[in-house]
Amino acid sequence: MRLARADDAPAVCRLLRRVARRWVMPDQPPEAVEALEQSLSTRAIRQRMEADLRFHLAFAAGALVGVASVRNDSHIVHLFVGTRYQGRGVARKLWDRLRKDCERRAGTHVFTLNAAEGAIPVYQCFGFEVDHDPARLRGKVVAVPMIYRGAGSAQCKSWPDKASRTDVSAAGESTRTASRPRQAAAR
Ligand SMILES: CC(C)(COP(=O)(O)OP(=O)(O)OC[C@H]1O[C@@H](n2cnc3c(N)ncnc32)[C@H](O)[C@@H]1OP(=O)(O)O)[C@@H](O)C(=O)NCCC(=O)NCCS
Repeated sequence: MRLARADDAPAVCRLLRRVARRWVMPDQPPEAVEALEQSLSTRAIRQRMEADLRFHLAFAAGALVGVASVRNDSHIVHLFVGTRYQGRGVARKLWDRLRKDCERRAGTHVFTLNAAEGAIPVYQCFGFEVDHDPARLRGKVVAVPMIYRGAGSAQCKSWPDKASRTDVSAAGESTRTASRPRQAAAR
């Protein structure tokens, strides 16, 4: 895993678009799909890399398989894992890395994000809770505001397949054997 460079923007954009089109956009109204498509163009991603987002990238066999980005060392903007690599602990590794990086850089202990509905159980596993702060409900994309105040409230019991997964290898980026069932909710 490593931080993104400006020349990663095309690959980041390709992964984000592919995953968003499959898992996020089908549940969104047309105006949100349009806004998402615009925000995931290479140009837009490159601009955000230069302006306000810090991107962490996960690779397997040299290919980009996961992307996480954070604003102000506290608000997670993207967390996307390629479909074939979902359910193998890639998001957990990205989240752990991003959280430690923010803690180190800014002493952050509280994180926020706006979750696609299908990703809520994953964030609950990380310790996020639904946040009822109406100030964060804005924009065209339908999402659920969530907040992390520490891992103490992690609730990770709703995925029966969890116990059958193979653990991440020591290198952390090799392909694992477990396959993941398609998430209940399209995202
Ligand atoms: C959401 C997403 C990022 C998760 O990535 P992933 O690599 O498959 O997640 P992981 O395998 O690291 O699993 C993370 C944790 O969530 C749990 N989990 C995964 N899917 C789950 C589910 N459907 N229900 C309950 N728990 C689930 C895992 O058990 C794991 O828990 P652990 O770390 O305590 O063992 C990925 O599925 C994705 O990109 N989805 C489409 C895009 C999207 O919706 N992104 C979020 C936008 S807000």
